[in-house]
This record gives sequence, C-alpha cells and structure tokens, in this order.
Amino acid sequence: MSAEELRDEYPDSREAFSGDGFFRAEIGPSCAGMTVADALKKSCGFLIDRPCGGRGKCGKCAVFVLRGGSALFPGNFPENIPAGCEKVLACGEIVPPEGLTVFVPASKNLSARIDSVPEENALHNEGFDPEDTFLAVDVGTTTVESALAVKDDREPCGYRVIAGDTRLNPQKVHGADVISRIQYSKSSAGGRTGLEEMQSEIAAAVNGILAGFRQRFGDSCARKNVVVAGNTTMQHLFCGVSPEKMGVFPFTPAFTEMKIFSGEEMGIDTEKVTVLPSADAFIGADVVAGVFAENLTAGGGKKLFVDLGTNGEMVLASGGVLAACSTAAGPCFEGANISCGTGGVPGAVSRVTENGGKYLFSTVADAEPKGICGSGLIDVAAILVKNGTIDETGRVEETFELRGTWTGRDGNVIAEDKDSGVSLTQKDVRELQLAKAAVRAGMEVLLESENLAPEDVDAVLVAGGLGKYINAGNAATVGIFPGILAQKVVPVGNASLKGALLAGASDKNAEAMAETAGKIKAFSLGGKPEFMEKYVEYMMFE
Ligand code: FES
Repeated sequence: MSAEELRDEYPDSREAFSGDGFFRAEIGPSCAGMTVADALKKSCGFLIDRPCGGRGKCGKCAVFVLRGGSALFPGNFPENIPAGCEKVLACGEIVPPEGLTVFVPASKNLSARIDSVPEENALHNEGFDPEDTFLAVDVGTTTVESALAVKDDREPCGYRVIAGDTRLNPQKVHGADVISRIQYSKSSAGGRTGLEEMQSEIAAAVNGILAGFRQRFGDSCARKNVVVAGNTTMQHLFCGVSPEKMGVFPFTPAFTEMKIFSGEEMGIDTEKVTVLPSADAFIGADVVAGVFAENLTAGGGKKLFVDLGTNGEMVLASGGVLAACSTAAGPCFEGANISCGTGGVPGAVSRVTENGGKYLFSTVADAEPKGICGSGLIDVAAILVKNGTIDETGRVEETFELRGTWTGRDGNVIAEDKDSGVSLTQKDVRELQLAKAAVRAGMEVLLESENLAPEDVDAVLVAGGLGKYINAGNAATVGIFPGILAQKVVPVGNASLKGALLAGASDKNAEAMAETAGKIKAFSLGGKPEFMEKYVEYMMFE
C-alpha cells in the first residue's frame, strides 16, 4: 500500500521525520486497540523490527510515546525526546482511544518504510528491449535482493543485469528468524492468518520492486517471468503454503520441488512466477540456486559452498557427491540479535579496519551509518580479539564504541572522527560466539563425513549477504573458518540471485537446477555427538 493510500485509510494519523534522529508519528484514534507496532505499520508505513516475534523478550522494538495527544504536529520538532515521553515496547503497547505520539529512533528500530526508496544499482541499462526482461528475486529472511535482467546470448551466462534492488523483507517485523515466522504463520487476526498476511507482504514487496523498475525502464519490464529463490521457509511463505511442519521434528517441508504459478495466483503483477526447488527443510532453493550458479556439480576438486545467513548452510562437493548440512547459527550474521545490528542494507557498517589505534569504516552504498551488518561485526570482533579487548572466553571489559574515519567505496574520506553510532556489547560477542561455533563445528563435521580434512579442500565459496563483504582473514581470527581454509575463501556474493538469474535466462537451467536439488544429500547435525563436542570447543576464541 502506498503512503497516499495509508493516509486515506487512517486520515487521523501522520508521520514525519524529525531532524534529531527520530521519526515521529501521530497515531490517531482510528488505530485504538492496535499494538503500537501494528499502528505504526498500518497508519504510517513504519516497519518496526520485532526480532523476538513480538514476544516482549528482546526489547529491540522499544519506542518512545507521548500520551494525551500532542499539538506539535505539523512542524516544530523538539530538539530531543520531549519530557514526559515514556519508553515502551511497540510489540506490546496498545494504542489508547485518544491515540498517541510515537518517537521511533531512526537508527535502530526503524526497519524500512513500506514505500521506501531502495538502493538501485544501474549496471548496463542501455540497448535493451524491456519486453525481454525478467525479474530474479532472492527472498532472504532479512533482505530481499532482486535484479532486473535481459536475456542476452552474447553473454556466457545468457543474461545481462540491467539494475538491482535491495530492500528489507517486510515479514521481518514478525520475527528475525524462520522459527518466529513459522510461529507467526499459525496466528490469525482480522480475519486472516499470519501465513496469508506474510504471503501478501512479500507479494507486495515484489510488486513494489516491479513498479520501481517499470517506472524507470518502461511499463513492459518483467511482464513475463519472475523467478524466486529463498530458503525453504521463505519459499513456503512466498507460495502461501504452511511451513508449520518445518517448525517441529522431523522438520518436513510441504514441498521442495520447483513450482510454476500464474502471476494472478500469486498476486504478482507478471505472467509467470517460477519458484525454484529446495533440497530439504534446511537446504533451500537459495542454496540449490547458489550451488548451481557456482557449478559445484561440474569438474573435479573439492569445493565447500557456505551460505552464512540466518542459518549456516554448507554443501561439500567432492568426487561427484554433494553432501550438505545446516547449522542453526542464529541470525547474528544478518545483524539480528546484535544490539546495533542490521542487514546488509544501505548504511550498514560493512567493513572496519584498524591502524595504529585508529578505526576506519565503510558502509553499504556509502549511506549514513545506521547499524552494523555481519561482515562489519566480524571485522570489529577480529580487531578486538587481536588487541586483547575480547579475551579467549569472549569476555569484554566494556562496550566498544566505533568512532573513526568513514571512507567511501572509492576510498575517499567521507568524514573524519565520525561517530558511527555502532557499539559492540558483551551480549553481542556472546551471540557471535554461538554463531561462529555452530558454523565451524558444522563445517568440520561435514568434511569428516566425506573423510576430508580442511587442508584437502580446494576452495571455499562464501555466499550470502556476508559473502559480498567478508574479510576471510578476520573470519579466521574470529574462528569461523580454520586458518587454512581462510586462505582459500572466494567470496561469491549473492549466489542465490545468480542462480535465479540463470533460471530466468533459460528453462533448461531451471530444469537442471531441479536435478541439482535432487543430488544434494543433506544430513542433520542434531544427533551427532561430535558436532556438540566441536561446538563447545569452538565457542572460545583462539
Ligand atoms: S520485545 Fe518487542 S519485538 Fe522483542
């Protein structure tokens, strides 16, 4: 729904940006009885992150409210949060009959605007017929990354990317991880289930992406095909199929095969929607598409494909076998459960280096810092491990505040002595320890399952949002990879999106991807004592 439509539906509610780092919303009586989070979303288009799924446990949805209405709107924004404001959890606080004024800290709590302007990245946008274009979408638990491409036989891959779009997954407000989304899918409110709500949210996001590209490149863009890859839960939610059985043992997906729908069936403004195949509940279409795109099935050598997202999924290609496992790394590599964490969206601190006690950092798209994503987190932790601020057990004396030189992608200084607003707390380090131990232990058990040692591996292909920016040396310092593997790391970026692009370029690729999915032999780490032993061991920093 556009901002204009929202305003029509909730005429007594208004929002505006206040210059001191807060968004301010006037929530009117029409939202009485809703939670503050729902009211912000429905009336103003503000999406508040709800990492714990609105259970009142994580505290990350905190906002400030001013009761008794306010005569401040419009204009006259206060310098600071006005006296009398109360900090509340947006997930649980109910809007009173008279409405209230809400101040949302812009840097932390605000996930995205429904009608936000996404990062667009024009690459080769000349000389193409918009009618020959298709849209490839990687639906991540945290971010939705897509590319508009045109089929092009002159390119070895069969397509040419015209432009890209990255935005937060609107379902994020229902929880940071797949378990929270599965829980939410079972809920119902206002005459529809959580599953229906989330299906329409993701469909609306894809329609928003299409609308943006059509506005820019012509109305006939991607009218024929939209190709979607995501983890198995995201694929279920995308299709409006209940993922409920994946939330309990033995974690059975309702489907793993490739599905083709009409756009009308999916509520998506295109002719055909291709939903790519998964291998099992934990090895989703995003991994299958990545394995296909990186050609793991071909040629010799031993390659390890690692997708570090909300979970750590790994596929080992060796002697024609594709063995796979998934670790519940937690969403910390996507910035969730980290006090200043964010996904790899514009403004995420993605790289941090230290030189003589001075810090340099850069952000995604050179945008004003608004949090730290997984790669930045790994960089900071590695620096603090090296200088002893984080000890072997993960203990930190005091919260680390990131202040330093902010540099752009071109290496030029954007600002000196810049307060990034990012800090790293003891709890953040504990989250990282859990995640890195799970990934490292899973990786070693996977290698052992094929009688391989780390030194036998020829290449480690790191995919996912993290794969774009990861510093392999720092990942090894933190202990995500054994040192010897860090030297073999090849960041492959969003391999899932590449796979979706390949499937969009040729039906043959899509069929071959279905074969790849069938070849992946996934096993569970759950019942393996060696996994638990290693997990405990790798919790420490070396
Ligand atoms: S406390 Fe509100 S979402 Fe976690």
